[in-house]
Amino acid sequence: MPKTGTLPDKAKVAVFISGTGTNMAALLYASHHADCPYEIVIVLSNDPQANGLALAQAEGIATFALPHKGMERAAHDAAMEAKVTAAGADYIALAGYMRILSDEFVNRWEGRMLNIHPSLLPKYKGLHTHKRALEAGDSHGGVSVHLVTSELDAGTVLGQTKVAIMPQDTPDTLAIRVRLAEHQLYPQVLADYVSRGSNPEFLLEQVRSRAMRMAEVVERPSHGAPGWRTGGKNGRYFAYFSDQHHGEDAIALLVKTSGADEQASLIESDPETFYSPAFYGASGWVGIVLNRGELDWQQVDHWLQRSWQMVAPKRLTKLLDAAAEF
Ligand code: GRF
Repeated sequence: MPKTGTLPDKAKVAVFISGTGTNMAALLYASHHADCPYEIVIVLSNDPQANGLALAQAEGIATFALPHKGMERAAHDAAMEAKVTAAGADYIALAGYMRILSDEFVNRWEGRMLNIHPSLLPKYKGLHTHKRALEAGDSHGGVSVHLVTSELDAGTVLGQTKVAIMPQDTPDTLAIRVRLAEHQLYPQVLADYVSRGSNPEFLLEQVRSRAMRMAEVVERPSHGAPGWRTGGKNGRYFAYFSDQHHGEDAIALLVKTSGADEQASLIESDPETFYSPAFYGASGWVGIVLNRGELDWQQVDHWLQRSWQMVAPKRLTKLLDAAAEF
């Protein structure tokens, strides 16, 4: 079996700023801890005068500035993106970047671009968030880190911190405390997000939602591991989730193969991905390592489906068999 489900070293992050860059600084200093799973490889700005650029330079980080004035949005985005790509970044963290990005750019980075917004989303998208929270008489302001989608401040929220509003607060005083919360939240959320691929809870949730999409599936633990079966009362298992069970290193999905020959050839062709799991291996099951850098969820879907098909009753597989004949 594979020695370990190793992930690539540190995730490489590009940070986009337009102003003071205090969130960029918080991300940067957090990244200097040995166990931080990301590193900042470049800081970019649409404003060459942005204070944060000078700070990044002083800290030895590569920078790039390109004023957007007079440039088409798509051309400006493309020039920024070229630098991001050349720096080898896997993720983009927007930190006070005051430009709307083109849909094409956002779509290319979907799931790999985060933003920090000074409100408790979905409240107060856009600008003047503190003023709006005060005027509404809210008990709390706060901050959200979210994935960036083409709709402004509307992507999945990954983390939030509430900040109590005090009686004498003005937008400026509230902003100062929210900023403190921002500096705590962003590095933590970014670290969790880039390491989600080795987080058993995240991986289990992904496997579970995929397994449950198939017909007549119920989840039932087996020897302490989550498992999924199909076919009603006398149903049979088609998948198990193994979180370093039986002293194994991998977090893995166990599925059925057609037998020992297929199992052996899978392991031989890709020993980083496939292994023979303890106990189940003897009956032709194969382990698919999930906590590895280049995990292909389509491959996981494929194996889940195939394994389901092997154990599901005829009345459920009939349609699929018919489709396969075409
Ligand atoms: C922060 O309030 C952030 O939430 C918002 O823009 C501001 C950036 O501040 N998106 P800084 O440049 O990080 O100091």
